[in-house]
Amino acid sequence: MSKASYQVVEFGVTKYGQKAKKFILNGAGGVVLEVSDYGGKVVRLFTPDRDGNLKDVVVGFDDPSGWDNGDPYWGCIIGRYGNRIANGRFSLNGVDYQLPALNNAPGGIGCNLHGGARGWDAYVWDAEPFLDGESVGVVFKRTSEDGEEGFPGKVEVVVKYTLTSDNVWRVEYAAVPDKDTPINMTQHVYFNFKGEAGGTIEDHVMTICASNFTPTNAGQIPTGEVVSVEGTPFDFRNSMRIGERINEPNEQLEIGKGYDHNWVLDKGVMAGGDGGLIKAGALYCPLNGRAVEVWTTEPCLQVYTANWASYDQTAKGGEHLSFRCGVALETQHAPDSPNKPQWPTTIVKSGEHYSSMTEFRFGTL
Ligand code: BGC
Repeated sequence: MSKASYQVVEFGVTKYGQKAKKFILNGAGGVVLEVSDYGGKVVRLFTPDRDGNLKDVVVGFDDPSGWDNGDPYWGCIIGRYGNRIANGRFSLNGVDYQLPALNNAPGGIGCNLHGGARGWDAYVWDAEPFLDGESVGVVFKRTSEDGEEGFPGKVEVVVKYTLTSDNVWRVEYAAVPDKDTPINMTQHVYFNFKGEAGGTIEDHVMTICASNFTPTNAGQIPTGEVVSVEGTPFDFRNSMRIGERINEPNEQLEIGKGYDHNWVLDKGVMAGGDGGLIKAGALYCPLNGRAVEVWTTEPCLQVYTANWASYDQTAKGGEHLSFRCGVALETQHAPDSPNKPQWPTTIVKSGEHYSSMTEFRFGTL
């Protein structure tokens, strides 16, 4: 009998009136992952420290209301388009599309963020848990209708979470549109290896396998430049404490209130390949040894250090969110790619198969 197992429990009702469930995935290697069919949200993730003690190391909430009454993206599947599209506008096949442009919009038109007013994170998906040898997981499916949030084309989407016996959480994305449309999916989990209410992640040590990043304008839209990290606070090629340079006077850090940027991964240069995956980065907490490596098929990584987290929001167990209480390592194509023809395309043609894979490999150092 497999050492892996799962349980299914009720998770409450979303503000859209959908009943949500939670899947508790007990990995054969010791990691426990609790995820909901409500946008694939990671509710809890227990990983061992260097002495084998399990602790919940993600930022999240006890039930759907936490996501519904504040920033909704903690630990979710993000789609149809992860991160920002300038002014919520793009042109495709001679047609101009206007999406909701609600983000960074004080007094004016903002941008489209993470799929719009109600992104893929805010739906209850069809979900089937599975056991496969020593692995355990959930397959999530949904249909995004033609015109949903202003995007062209109906999209059939499947996201598969697998927790392996060697403590890898694999996320596989597949989607097929029936019209040409932009697709850029990611997972928005926030780690804090000191645990919930562990305070700031500035003491975590991070590696980003990237020699370049894409600076933004004041509205957090990439300017289109691809700039070397050499000599800047964005150089994480050698691991560095997140807090080491985050508060330096630097225009880009001021715009993001910290790290909230897209790095262009060094494909196979410094990281080497591994079954089509490249190493995007790593995170490590020196206090307890908990560590993760992130491997992906995607070309870029958005690192966001929860610079807008608000103390007004109550998180799990009645604790409050706080400034820089987690770090999200979001594998993706670059933000605003539909308006940056010089960058790798995010347009998936009608009938074409979009696929993407990311692995979070947990361990200790
Ligand atoms: C973005 C941040 C945004 C956050 C919302 C990140 O992916 O880069 O700017 O505030 O998501 O949760």
